[in-house]
Amino acid sequence: YFCKFHPGMRGTLVVTGSEGEVEPQRPAFEQPLVVPRVVRGRDIRLPMTPARVRVLPDGPRTPMWTYAGSWPGPTIRRPAGGDTRVTFAHRLPRRAGSMSVHLHGSHHAPKDDGQPTTHLLRPGTERTYRYPLMFGDDPVAGSFFWYHDHRMDKTARNNWRGLQGMFVVDDPADAELRLPTGARDIPLMISDRSFRRDNRLTDPFARGPRMTHHHGQMAWLGRGAPPDDHSTGTHVLVNGRYAPYHRVSATRHRLRLLNSSPFTAYNFELSDGRPFVQIGTGNGLLKKPVVRDTIVLGPAQRADVIVDFHGESGNNVVLSSVPRDDEGAAVGTGTREAALMEFRVGRRAPDPSRLPSTLPSPRLVRAPARVSKTWRFDLGGNDRHGTFWSINGRSFDPGRAAHRPRLGSVERWRLRNTSDMTHYVHIHAEQWRTVLRNGRRPPPWERALEDTWRLDPGDVVEVAARFKDYTGPFMIHCHMLDHEDHGMMARFDVVRR
Ligand code: C2O
Ligand code: CU
Repeated sequence: YFCKFHPGMRGTLVVTGSEGEVEPQRPAFEQPLVVPRVVRGRDIRLPMTPARVRVLPDGPRTPMWTYAGSWPGPTIRRPAGGDTRVTFAHRLPRRAGSMSVHLHGSHHAPKDDGQPTTHLLRPGTERTYRYPLMFGDDPVAGSFFWYHDHRMDKTARNNWRGLQGMFVVDDPADAELRLPTGARDIPLMISDRSFRRDNRLTDPFARGPRMTHHHGQMAWLGRGAPPDDHSTGTHVLVNGRYAPYHRVSATRHRLRLLNSSPFTAYNFELSDGRPFVQIGTGNGLLKKPVVRDTIVLGPAQRADVIVDFHGESGNNVVLSSVPRDDEGAAVGTGTREAALMEFRVGRRAPDPSRLPSTLPSPRLVRAPARVSKTWRFDLGGNDRHGTFWSINGRSFDPGRAAHRPRLGSVERWRLRNTSDMTHYVHIHAEQWRTVLRNGRRPPPWERALEDTWRLDPGDVVEVAARFKDYTGPFMIHCHMLDHEDHGMMARFDVVRR
């Protein structure tokens, strides 16, 4: 069987739309968008519980594993620099096993990082994670983080089941920018899933893959590439609902786009040719707004955009994903086509918002001239134990530190994709400056702080950060969760000088 997303790659795939699964209907945009409830306290408690979630418009609700009963979980909203404790209580069935919660994008101690094999949350127990929302002496910038499960080998399954939620950090200083706020500031989490006829989620992980550990390495026991796209879905959901609509006034809106799909990438577009004005990444504002007709986001990537609905009264604007760019070229591998949601634009209304021509972007480190570490992302090899995804030829070994940057130092890392498909590479611990993309200055939307980069085959991206505040183990990995679970992850330890 050849994969439709990765021609040339073989694997055992779950054939979508096969018997017993729900075929996606043409989106009718008949259910309203759900904006998850917001929690704001400095001490937050979120039980992890099974719940039945209204995802598809008809038929029974979908049983899922959730943070506090909904998918996405509640949106946590905190001021920059506001020390935050979130206690997660594991009330999921025992067979779910231990969990680990990672706040993606944030800077915090290793014990609070949602490690894949240590500091776990065992069934029936609870664990408090502390997020100071500071970088050294400075509060973090206004950000759009998200929290999700990070248990080794099970991250794809646990995210598929629903363990995902959003986390917005507000910088009080940004208020004077007069960006759209309140109901006009909407976090949108895009994620795909497949369903059985009874609206239960399919279980792409039940039938395989046949993975094994040997010498601390993970290997696929079949032939050829590991079955990497188990966790792609037939239905693309927005805030956990299939093809929702949302009523908006003909004013400016701020949309915070997050791709929380386990594997799939999207190239976002608006139906009337209206551009997005990108003002930020997930980790703060850009220096200047950038007008973009389409925006590619791979798993875990975010974009903070303004959409101006002025002049659209009475029209419907559809947010969709197209796998090709304006010139008709394919956008990475695995980028999917789908209609996602509809904005029903109502009347004009007073709009106090503005679109500033310059923005307060977080300060960037000065990048050292020398590269201190190169990370190669590849299909690792095919030994007698099987095949595995790898970084620098090795699959994930939680017991091994692949690199030891010193606390206080600034390092420049080179990320190279030597495989034949696109990967989305995420680095924990710090927020990173993109120094070079394929030898050139990165595009304007990549000139602020990042934590996840798209790497097409052959791409080389150089990034830099200062290791501040915390020593100990952190992870670098592909955020396509099947790749992460199948070995494309490595540990680095920040050490004292
Ligand atoms: Cu969003 Cu290491 O994860
Ligand atoms: Cu990958």
